[in-house]
Amino acid sequence: MSDGLQAGAVAPANEEAVRAWDTVLYERWKQNRKVFVGALTEVTEDLFDRFPPPPGGRCIDIGCGFGETTQRLAELVGADGFALGTDSSPRFIEDARLEAAESGVAPENIGFEVADAQTAEWGPEYDYAFSRMGTQFFAAPVPAMRAIRGALKPGGGLRKICWRRKGESQFWAETEGVVERFLTRPAEYDADTCGPGPFSLGNPETLEGILTAAGFEEIELHSRDFDYFMGGDMEEAVDSLLAIGPGAELIRLNGEHGESRREEIAEALREHYRQWQQPDGSIVGRAAVWIVGATNPA
Ligand SMILES: C[S@@+](CC[C@H](N)C(=O)[O-])C[C@H]1O[C@@H](n2cnc3c(N)ncnc32)[C@H](O)[C@@H]1O
Repeated sequence: MSDGLQAGAVAPANEEAVRAWDTVLYERWKQNRKVFVGALTEVTEDLFDRFPPPPGGRCIDIGCGFGETTQRLAELVGADGFALGTDSSPRFIEDARLEAAESGVAPENIGFEVADAQTAEWGPEYDYAFSRMGTQFFAAPVPAMRAIRGALKPGGGLRKICWRRKGESQFWAETEGVVERFLTRPAEYDADTCGPGPFSLGNPETLEGILTAAGFEEIELHSRDFDYFMGGDMEEAVDSLLAIGPGAELIRLNGEHGESRREEIAEALREHYRQWQQPDGSIVGRAAVWIVGATNPA
């Protein structure tokens, strides 16, 4: 555990996913961060345009990772506001804390805390709850979304981004299709999974049902398709596709057998994505997210 605040214990049902995010997925996210974070910057700014954080307001960032968005929230609310980044992974939070300090964000404007959102007991102190891809991994999403609502003042807003269904993001679905030519999902595996996974909120009825059951009102789901930057060149794109996402998970869950096929799979991905290569050498695919708004009843 890192030093600093720990808001409650990890829910037993989340232990596996929290461990995965604090070990192998942390390392892979960090290594490929330029791609993962860069690719999501445009839709993140779209969300902030649609739902601007209130100047001087207090924000909470759920599953904040390295805290880029927490720093952005602190910037948007200004010197009179505050942004708290929370994540269940101590390693992400340790980095987030260091980076915010190095960036010179005033300590009174930003804070970080290790918390499993499903068990956190936040009080109604925040005007704005934000998450970018941090709410899909809960074993019990309704209690988790209820805890997040509990962090909001009456009338406060939840604003978040999550993937739509996997098949709607061409590059995720096609990458998995390529890997499936070599591997199938094993019936048993030792690797820790990341719980229900990145596409668990892709179905709009499920997403709306979870938010409604958690007590949110004025639920808005905005469908957004965008160009997804997969890498500055083919090697960067293939590395990132083999690090995180449905294709990468198939390799990881296959353990040594998966690793033994990695180079053949990488070659097949290079071949597949050659047609997507831009004149500058970068690889750009299409992706699909929900930009979600919901309100804690006044
Ligand atoms: C896909 S990453 C997104 C990170 C960051 N929001 C970003 O956009 O760069 C998912 C994040 O959710 C965090 N996470 C997973 N389960 C969580 C839980 N139960 N409570 C809080 N955070 C969680 C992970 O540790 C990870 O940092």
